[in-house]
Amino acid sequence: MQSPKMFIFCRNFDFPNDDFMILQQSVSLKSYNTFGIDATCRYFVELKQRDDVEKWVAMQQQSHDPFFILGGGSNVVFQQCIEKTVVKVSLRGIEAVKEDEGNVWIKAAAGEIWSDFVDYCVENRWGGMENLSNIPGTVGAAPVQNVGAYGVEAKDVIETVECIEIATGQWKRLTNAECQFGYRDSIFKQAFKNQYIIAAVTFRLTKNPKLQLSYGGISSRLEREGIEQPTIADVSRVVHSLRVNKLPDPAIIGSAGSFFKNPIISHDKYAVLLQHYRDLVAFPFEESFKIAAGWLIEQCGWKGRQLGRVGVYPQQALVLYNLGDCTGEEVKQLANAIQQSVKEKFDIDLEPEAIFIE
Ligand code: EPU
Repeated sequence: MQSPKMFIFCRNFDFPNDDFMILQQSVSLKSYNTFGIDATCRYFVELKQRDDVEKWVAMQQQSHDPFFILGGGSNVVFQQCIEKTVVKVSLRGIEAVKEDEGNVWIKAAAGEIWSDFVDYCVENRWGGMENLSNIPGTVGAAPVQNVGAYGVEAKDVIETVECIEIATGQWKRLTNAECQFGYRDSIFKQAFKNQYIIAAVTFRLTKNPKLQLSYGGISSRLEREGIEQPTIADVSRVVHSLRVNKLPDPAIIGSAGSFFKNPIISHDKYAVLLQHYRDLVAFPFEESFKIAAGWLIEQCGWKGRQLGRVGVYPQQALVLYNLGDCTGEEVKQLANAIQQSVKEKFDIDLEPEAIFIE
């Protein structure tokens, strides 16, 4: 393999930061979760640089207090009083660490805003992330739940994940295989849950992009626009627009994006369901079938309905949203009611993608 030609500097990881890491008491989490739930936590601490991470880890090894690691708060539902320390990871920095003829390896700190980072890569014509445009959240959260959209998942571009083990204070760099990625899943949701803090992720991007256009209406939109040879900027723009039409803008309407995972069912069960529901929306997935949870919820009559101050989004039934000042408890009640309906009608268990934090 050719040695790197150059070292591109994008934005320094080590920018000076005079703030001390401060442990605050009784902090409102309203601005730290995209659902806009006004919960409070016992303690709150923000980690802005690596030094803070190491300091907090050392403190934690002494105190053993319960904690929750927070990224962009786009996938969480807080209950009213969190008797935990909420640890907000705000490390910033983007740099190109390696380059060869076909690829560039970009390292981004965990606190970088995912959608800004994707836009930045698209502007630089580094391909691979364009289908993941406009997803809320931070870079550090992307490997945890292996974010995905329009036929691409974070695992397709992640090379390594740098993290610190809380119990030992040791830094590790996990390879893609070691992260054990699955559909909205990784080792960070399983064996490593609550045991590591992710500090940075390195992505392998390509200078000769292979576009993934087959999913979710991207190619038909490009055709309608008369674009025969799309660039990654075209794809990113189309994905932005598709998402804007289906999903609420978290800056205006509180939500956690897709609330449930698309359930995966066996071939046999799929065949039985298809006999009853000819318009069943399903996609082959490994040896099984992935069913569109939005379709299941819509069939149960929930689309556009409300319970308390939480609604089922009229444009996409997979999204639950805040009608104004809702509580985590209300979200849970609606989620439970939907799960119950889907279980009764289809005998399928819907699993939340969003995480309830108590
Ligand atoms: N559908 C309905 N009714 C609905 C919603 C969907 O019938 O109310 C059916 C439609 O036939 C639609 C199909 O379901 O064509 C699939 O819908 P969509 O393309 O919106 O995708 P999704 O499976 O509902 C997944 C991801 C989204 C991602 C989109 C696009 C999950 C849990 N969600 O949704 O991710 O943006 O695909 O690739 O896998 C997120 O995780 O927060 C998220 C938004």
